[in-house]
Amino acid sequence: MLRFLTAGESHGKGLVTIIDNFPAGVKINEDFINEKLRLRQSGYGRGARQKIETDKIEFLSGVRGGLTTGSPISFFIKNKDYENWRDRMDAFKPVQEESKIHTPRPGHADFAGSIKFGLDDIRNVLERSSARETASRVAVGAVCQIFLKNFGIEFASAVLSIGGAGIDAAQISALGKERQAENGSEEKAPSEKKMPESNCGAFFSSDANLFDETIRQNIENSELRMPYPEHEEKAKAFIDKMKTEGDTAGGLITAKAKGVPVGLGSFTQWDEKLDAHISMSVMSIQAIKSVEIGAGVKSAYLKGSECHDSIYYNDNGDSDNKEQRGLISNQTPLFKVGGGFYRKTGNAGGIEGGMSNGEIISVTCAMKPIPTLMKPYLDTVDLNTGEAKKAFLERSDVCAVPAASIVVESALAFSICYFFLKKFGGDGLAEIKRNYDGYVKK
Ligand SMILES: Cc1cc2nc3c(=O)[nH]c(=O)nc-3n(C[C@H](O)[C@H](O)[C@H](O)COP(=O)(O)O)c2cc1C
Repeated sequence: MLRFLTAGESHGKGLVTIIDNFPAGVKINEDFINEKLRLRQSGYGRGARQKIETDKIEFLSGVRGGLTTGSPISFFIKNKDYENWRDRMDAFKPVQEESKIHTPRPGHADFAGSIKFGLDDIRNVLERSSARETASRVAVGAVCQIFLKNFGIEFASAVLSIGGAGIDAAQISALGKERQAENGSEEKAPSEKKMPESNCGAFFSSDANLFDETIRQNIENSELRMPYPEHEEKAKAFIDKMKTEGDTAGGLITAKAKGVPVGLGSFTQWDEKLDAHISMSVMSIQAIKSVEIGAGVKSAYLKGSECHDSIYYNDNGDSDNKEQRGLISNQTPLFKVGGGFYRKTGNAGGIEGGMSNGEIISVTCAMKPIPTLMKPYLDTVDLNTGEAKKAFLERSDVCAVPAASIVVESALAFSICYFFLKKFGGDGLAEIKRNYDGYVKK
């Protein structure tokens, strides 16, 4: 079973990560991993910390001569900022009473974390609960992506909106109104009912095809990782406003996986379901507050006839949706690669019954605004005295949604890799390739 563990504090010496049960013989591309780490550090609205750090992966074990050996992979990511925190973060120097923090920030792990562990200094909680830990997760996701590339599986992610500026997040309310109109409880329905179908099988415009070359370029060129340049100005203006006001911003993120074979995950047990695993991976990211697969919340407003993705088959492999076709086993003559089943819409987000169905896997999630504010808006109390206080200020991001989109993509990559290895498992790449080829039977 593929698994990973992370350790390390935000201002400690660095982050240590162990990936266990990763197959041997996978060629590791350090530049690919470091580029993902760079992207996690970038984005309009980030704080001063990112100017100090230049994250780089340093492998400690499990990789030799550029190839994984099958032994546990461990790696280190240095915190350059440690030099500024040496005294306060030293393993043995006594902690100065006056440096201790007793006022928990609403929205952070401070309150429950210090009560749970019986700690009299909130720093012991915030150092570990900080999203600095996501650098480890991005590196793990990048290693998983490198492996999955061997099987034609690709990943992409983007920011859909920030503070409501961006792709029409109000589609839900539009649909709700439409339903109300049909029920006679609302006078006028919105004029536009359905979004045009895109070549990724999207029913909703929020389901942008991130694998389209123009959109991919847009995301790459955008400081906010947004797919459509026309949204960027409004979103940046919102971040600027939040900065001026000492406030913070959240947003909507999407991540997708393409080329995933049919049948990863299972319907047979609750904890074997691919969508459940992805949800846990993504929800465990700091500040992520919702996870949707495919149409997600919007499904609640659709009729069954609108929601479910009809199934089509093309015998000669010339379907109008070639890229979408699943890799299918050789159980019957129909089940072959080079002609196959496909859908025209993607409301299921590529998962039915807890299993991948061969379509693009699509996840959307909401990130809440950063809980550390630069102005004392939020009330709190001193945990020692019960005295009313304002939440403390600490150097922080105004908006980290673009960075979080890379973390979400990485979490998705880990979940897909976990189930891929479960299905095609073997100790080395060559063995896994044989298993995979046997299943998809070219
Ligand atoms: C990439 C990224 C960067 C973040 N940066 C900050 C930050 O600078 N300041 C802050 O207070 N929270 C930041 N957060 C969010 C907190 O880590 C998070 O809200 C906190 O750990 C509590 O967890 P919860 O929001 O999941 O309940 C960031 C989150 C992510 C994903």
